[in-house]
Amino acid sequence: MPAKKKQLLVLNGPNLNLLGARERQHYGTDTLETITGRLTGRAQQAGARLTAFQSNSEAALVERIHQARKDGIDFIIINPAAFTHTSVAMRDALAAVGIPFIEVHLSNVFAREAFRRESYFTDIAVGIISGLGASGYELALEFALQQESRRAAVRRNPAAKPQGKKRQ
Ligand code: DQA
Repeated sequence: MPAKKKQLLVLNGPNLNLLGARERQHYGTDTLETITGRLTGRAQQAGARLTAFQSNSEAALVERIHQARKDGIDFIIINPAAFTHTSVAMRDALAAVGIPFIEVHLSNVFAREAFRRESYFTDIAVGIISGLGASGYELALEFALQQESRRAAVRRNPAAKPQGKKRQ
């Protein structure tokens, strides 16, 4: 059976549609369109399919995470933006679908206001990249491309089915 294309989802939270114009000292000059274009090109080159979604609405992001499971998404790269510091709902959605994800921030959230050091995502993420600007998304993508697809893992070991994180 021919190998299925790896499916990747890039999610961006509120105000990231304003990248390029917004607080450039923190977020740089690339627009979200430019960043997404680069990611899409790289994914295509690697034989993967990348979908991107940005919303200013928490509900829309939660729905998109639910949809990711139905779509068979193998890996998520997410910059939850301000929802990083507030959204139990998005955290729960990611835990519920059980899709591995990397948390990305353009700015170094640990070098800014104290409230930005708190994330509802980091402890259930595969990892976090913060402070490397738009390259953070590209580095996350390289990592995701290297990972075995979830479907392939489940085929070989049905116990690898997403069940959320195991409690200790
Ligand atoms: C951000 C950091 C968040 O604290 C902030 O609310 C954002 C962007 C970043 O990419 O650096 O909107 O996630």
